[in-house]
Amino acid sequence: MTTAIAITAATGALGGRVARRLAARGVTQRLVVRDPARAPELAGATVVAGEYGDGASMREALAGIDTLLLVSATETEDRVARHLSAVDAAAAAGVRRIVYTSFVNAGPEATFLLARHHWQTEEHIRASGLAFTFLRDSLYADVLPFFVGADGVIRGPAGDGRGSFVTRDDIADAAVAVLLNERDERDGHDEHGEHDEHDEHDGHDGRTYDLSGPQSLSFTDMAAILSARSGREVRYHAETVEEAYASRAQYGAPEWMVDGWVSTYTAAAKGELDLVTDHVERLTGRPATSFDAFVAGDEEGLRHLRSLGR
Ligand SMILES: NC(=O)c1ccc[n+]([C@@H]2O[C@H](COP(=O)([O-])OP(=O)(O)OC[C@H]3O[C@@H](n4cnc5c(N)ncnc54)[C@H](OP(=O)(O)O)[C@@H]3O)[C@@H](O)[C@H]2O)c1
Repeated sequence: MTTAIAITAATGALGGRVARRLAARGVTQRLVVRDPARAPELAGATVVAGEYGDGASMREALAGIDTLLLVSATETEDRVARHLSAVDAAAAAGVRRIVYTSFVNAGPEATFLLARHHWQTEEHIRASGLAFTFLRDSLYADVLPFFVGADGVIRGPAGDGRGSFVTRDDIADAAVAVLLNERDERDGHDEHGEHDEHDEHDGHDGRTYDLSGPQSLSFTDMAAILSARSGREVRYHAETVEEAYASRAQYGAPEWMVDGWVSTYTAAAKGELDLVTDHVERLTGRPATSFDAFVAGDEEGLRHLRSLGR
């Protein structure tokens, strides 16, 4: 029996990767996007409109769907409400399982403030009674080159904290394995997700996977890799929290957003991004990509680093 799969956020970097992989595998899918005109054109894909915060649009978009990949929304002040609305719509539409892209160490007291949004969403999904799989992604390796300022400096209050950055491609491969119910070959080992009452349906139901890179790196280590691969000097400057707020004031961003940015670094300082697992490998059958290997092939990031006027 084919499972009806819906993918959200196919206009975005991660959702688009998942959708393209499924299409390449000949899988039929429904793409739920805010603006159908911007959806990728893929064999076997139908496109429907849906905004997480608009319950009616999501209920209609998800009718007849068994498995939903719910990609977390772009950061807004009301992001959690939008997520909860999407989950409620999925339940009302009769979706059986939600695969949700969360964040490592999501929790009510997470230092990274946006990880608290993920925890609230996870809790709502658990309470919905739907089957679920949480893909708790570490910080994307892909975004790190864009943390480098115009002067070649990564600034933030991370101290010498470390992070295990994961690539979007690895997350997409892992997501496909979960969506297609490809089993973890070493099932039953040590991931922290426990099997739950949905276990009879599927080996990934009720599980939480922490998707990390293969090693933890400090921001100094990362800057050295970015320097070596781009041929341009990149340095890390460990700011104090006060300095971090001062250096970001120029962007005129709302307070909740600046708090989110700064807390990415303070989470690293507290070790909350320092989590290396083999979950990418267990889901995809190959090791997670190292930061160095990723940067070596990251044309967009390298172009960005070489374009910095300094
Ligand atoms: N782990 C990390 O380091 C990290 C870094 C950045 C972001 N994230 C999170 O991971 C998600 C996916 O990452 P990405 O790189 O693919 O981001 P992205 O390229 O910005 O894509 C975000 C996607 O989500 C869609 N979307 C946003 N808000 C929505 C809403 N309220 N209802 C329906 N669709 C919505 C967007 O649709 P439109 O095209 O219509 O805007 C877009 O397709 C992000 O949205 C963010 O929550 C994680």
